[in-house]
Amino acid sequence: MELGTRAVHVVDEPLPPGSRPLSVPLVQSSAFAFESAAELADAMAGPDGAYVYSRRGNPTVRALEQTLAGLEGGAGAIAFASGMGAISGVLLALLRPGDRVVAQRCLYGGTHAVLADLAERYGIEVVRISGDDPAEFEAAAVHPATRLLVLETIANPTGRVPDLPGLLAAARALGVVGLVDNSLASPVLCRPLEHGADIVVHSTTKYLSGHSDVLGGAAVFADDELRRRIWPRTVELGACADPFAAWLTLRGIPTLPLRMREHCANAAVLAERLAAHPGVSAVHYPWFAGHPSYERARKVLDGGGGLLSFELAGGREAGRAFVEGVRVARLALSLGGVETLVTHPASTSHRELDGAALEAAGIAPGLVRMSVGIEAVEDLWADAEQALGQRPLGASFGLTK
Ligand SMILES: Cc1ncc(COP(=O)(O)O)c(C=O)c1O
Repeated sequence: MELGTRAVHVVDEPLPPGSRPLSVPLVQSSAFAFESAAELADAMAGPDGAYVYSRRGNPTVRALEQTLAGLEGGAGAIAFASGMGAISGVLLALLRPGDRVVAQRCLYGGTHAVLADLAERYGIEVVRISGDDPAEFEAAAVHPATRLLVLETIANPTGRVPDLPGLLAAARALGVVGLVDNSLASPVLCRPLEHGADIVVHSTTKYLSGHSDVLGGAAVFADDELRRRIWPRTVELGACADPFAAWLTLRGIPTLPLRMREHCANAAVLAERLAAHPGVSAVHYPWFAGHPSYERARKVLDGGGGLLSFELAGGREAGRAFVEGVRVARLALSLGGVETLVTHPASTSHRELDGAALEAAGIAPGLVRMSVGIEAVEDLWADAEQALGQRPLGASFGLTK
């Protein structure tokens, strides 16, 4: 063959029998080749046959799906391009015009936005509940069109933990699908399927991948029949996981339990020290006695997680000064990575709001959110203290400025 042809058809050496790679191979291929048309046609029949086209399935993505199903105790999973891809994909696949959704009031903003959009454009009714009381859910769910209950294991940034066992049992009794966003807890701290959830969704961008270098999402199903029913809709939507993103997520998962241990230990130390600091008027961390969800967190979680928030007595200006004053932590929006990140909603995501509007949104002007990383805790505390204006640091301290 001519060079032009030989260049296109590079050599694909199969592995000799007996040797397998130790890590999951990255199969970065959009499509898969077959010897016979009949085999290709058979493979196109469903989600679990031979691979055809990577929007429908890919070996690296399937390895991630099966790993996540195993961690959550589910029957199967679908990986997505992002957490919002997973949430939007599941909502669009499950809901029909006229359905009612009962949703916890303090959900992630993106989930609120997609529910509000579905309500406006598709006539889906969304009823909000606190998440503290199964009777409140039952009252909201009496309507025969109630289809879905949406919860988050740990709400962001308040740290509220809903009554997962009570609410999910009530949903099951009424034939309502229970969906839980478990991104902030990760399967290390909570496995909502064990409490009766039907679907768990994740932003794998956060703790599961853990290194702030990839976007991803997933839905894990208690019942494989539901996964098989939803799968064709997600193929149509096209928010599928890219193999390289799935590979990076698989690269992060083996250290998830170790990372979660450090996130939790560091956050607990910082929560305690911040609460004792004169510049801090309130700390919100569910593992911390005095938090409204403390008792429940101790029952349904195996640790308090890495996210905490605190209110600075100096209000909006003190919050801005803190997030601009940190030297080890970084001012950035995400969470769940190995590095500590801080944000100040009143001067970033909510900066258009005046004092009254901030109060209505439940955001104190001096509220700082901290995604506590796995750095040495004394360095994080020294950084927090200097950013609080209490203790100047030596010139050698600080990594980012
Ligand atoms: C609880 C929760 N769910 C979902 C998402 C959305 O995930 P992604 O950014 O991967 O789309 C986020 C993102 O911050 C989140 O915090």
